[in-house]
Amino acid sequence: METLRFKKILLPADELELKKFLCSEFWPFHVNEKLTDEIVSRFFQESFFSGTNNQSYWILNSNEAKIGFLRLFDLEDIGDGYPLFDLRIGAEFRGMGVGKAAVQWLCSYMFKNWQNLDRIAGTTRVDNIAMRKIFRSCGFVKEGHFRKDWSDSKGNVFDTVKYSILREDWITCTTTPVRWDDEP
Ligand SMILES: CC(C)(COP(=O)(O)OP(=O)(O)OC[C@H]1O[C@@H](n2cnc3c(N)ncnc32)[C@H](O)[C@@H]1OP(=O)(O)O)[C@@H](O)C(=O)NCCC(=O)NCCS
Repeated sequence: METLRFKKILLPADELELKKFLCSEFWPFHVNEKLTDEIVSRFFQESFFSGTNNQSYWILNSNEAKIGFLRLFDLEDIGDGYPLFDLRIGAEFRGMGVGKAAVQWLCSYMFKNWQNLDRIAGTTRVDNIAMRKIFRSCGFVKEGHFRKDWSDSKGNVFDTVKYSILREDWITCTTTPVRWDDEP
């Protein structure tokens, strides 16, 4: 795996490039599979990518090419809740270990920078096998399975799965299982 660099996205300086990255790709496992100029402009207006509640990063390869995007959100929940993240790798660079490296980076970045952060969580569509494998291989544990929770643009309905990693598990490189046998 080549060395990756994570560079904070600065707005409005990065606005055009970010729009181009998001709108030129197809995102098969997102609710908006094809983002448009209009949708992304609305995201900018709503401070979706930056500010106190969100941070976004370019994932740069060794040639400094922008091969992926990572957004951390719900950061203001830290203290009485937990943040989530959105990860998107350009199609040309998928399946090369970039997604896994990005999740390893974000765990380290977040646990080191927010000392009161106990857990990081993520959700994905049940058939997003690559993302589910990343969660597992980065120490996340499956915590939730939501049946018929996700509709795509064609009206197909999928289950959603939710994973999380605990700070103590991240430190000790272990995984604490969920108590699924506690039904009263
Ligand atoms: C999902 C995504 C982030 C995964 O990142 P990636 O860089 O492609 O994945 P990696 O190369 O790190 O591979 C992770 C694992 O998934 C496996 N994998 C990769 N692509 C796969 C595919 N299409 N089908 C099945 N398994 C796949 C890899 O073999 C690897 O498994 P391993 O841990 O057993 O070796 C990326 O494909 C992507 O951006 N997809 C579109 C956007 C998206 O779905 N984002 C997630 C939203 S929650």
